[in-house]
Amino acid sequence: MSIWTDRHVTVVVSGGIASYKALTVIRLLMHEGAQVRVALTAHATEFITPLTFQTLTQQPVVTDEFTMTDPEHVVHVALADWTDVMLIVPATANLIAKMATGLADDAATTTILATTAPKYVVPAMNSHMFANPATTRNLGQLVSDGMTVLDPATGMLAEGYVGHGRLPEPPEIVAWLTSQLLAHETGLPLHGQRVLVTAGGTREMLDPVRYISNRSSGKMGYAIARVAREMGAKVTLISAQTALPRPEGITYIQVTTAAEMLSEVEQAFPTTDMLIMAAAVSDYRPAEMAAQKIKKQPNDHGLTLQLTETTDILKKLAGQKQAQFVIGFAAETQQLLSNATHKLTAKNLDLLVANDVSAPGVGFNGDTNQVTLLSQHHAAVTTELLSKEAIAQIVLETAIAQGAVGKA
Ligand SMILES: Cc1cc2nc3c(=O)[nH]c(=O)nc-3n(C[C@H](O)[C@H](O)[C@H](O)COP(=O)(O)O)c2cc1C
Repeated sequence: MSIWTDRHVTVVVSGGIASYKALTVIRLLMHEGAQVRVALTAHATEFITPLTFQTLTQQPVVTDEFTMTDPEHVVHVALADWTDVMLIVPATANLIAKMATGLADDAATTTILATTAPKYVVPAMNSHMFANPATTRNLGQLVSDGMTVLDPATGMLAEGYVGHGRLPEPPEIVAWLTSQLLAHETGLPLHGQRVLVTAGGTREMLDPVRYISNRSSGKMGYAIARVAREMGAKVTLISAQTALPRPEGITYIQVTTAAEMLSEVEQAFPTTDMLIMAAAVSDYRPAEMAAQKIKKQPNDHGLTLQLTETTDILKKLAGQKQAQFVIGFAAETQQLLSNATHKLTAKNLDLLVANDVSAPGVGFNGDTNQVTLLSQHHAAVTTELLSKEAIAQIVLETAIAQGAVGKA
């Protein structure tokens, strides 16, 4: 279940060149499970029709305050009362000025004034309009009135030059709004917790073009990062190379080698409440990286590589832990439980997620996983074959049930 599920979102659209992008924002919100209704300013209808919004949301669109289709309800008040979250996107300089002074001269501005729901404002305009002292003053007023404003993007404007005032891309707007909501949702199980997740397979360079790595796709770690965020945590994801899109709304650090991952994890660990090491970190790296591409050997005697052990990140960090709850992963191809149990105690972990990566549908690369959760003082739990998202949920819920929250 997402934080958006059944949330009532009113999207107010004003009349700018980016008005059409509100459609994509609405689609994304509805995809997340939100119920969306729309209010348009009269100028917005010059850019995009109410029919488009009505068809997309399957709800009547509020455009004209003085048309009474329902004699029992005053349209703007009914919409204002229905609203849990109000998103104003795009917010024109004109609408921002009206909001700053509390004007209510059409259905959109009257609805804005009449709702007590939190308001999120996404300005978009020409860079000179945005930099105008009047706009700066008005936005400052909105913030001191308790509204939250997203800074516009810098990029190519409709006027044909680059400037600060462009509407951020719709996925960015939804990610920002989601983060705002999550930060205020105190009832979530990981609210206020700082969760550090590692993911992906590290690459150990042999020469400038070749490396040793493994088949980890990063999907399990990324799923944990997403689910932890949805459970209210502040998430930092330290990711080795993957083909996955960067998850929104989290702090993201890209690394390549085991040594880089160690350095980043060590830096973040002291301010972490929960560490989840889902990355497949190389146990060995080439003793030396060749400065130039290694040439094929002239005779057919093969090539011997000298490898040296990398630092065991989990073991090192678990040794330094204060109040952190530390979760490790064990990918095994044989004697799963005995190997995993040894790892649990040898590395002083709070929880170990063991999976047999040789079994079909389990572990590396796929979208499913089946794991056994081992901990020092609780009975082992084996899951069914589930999506990595569902496994992530179980891992985090198990950690919470075993006292991960409130350890610090
Ligand atoms: C083609 C065109 C594009 C416009 N784009 C913007 C814009 O991106 N941002 C903005 O603040 N105003 C923009 N305007 C000016 C607004 O449409 C104008 O200020 C209008 O009064 C806004 O009305 P509203 O705030 O009630 O929707 C644009 C006007 C035109 C004609």
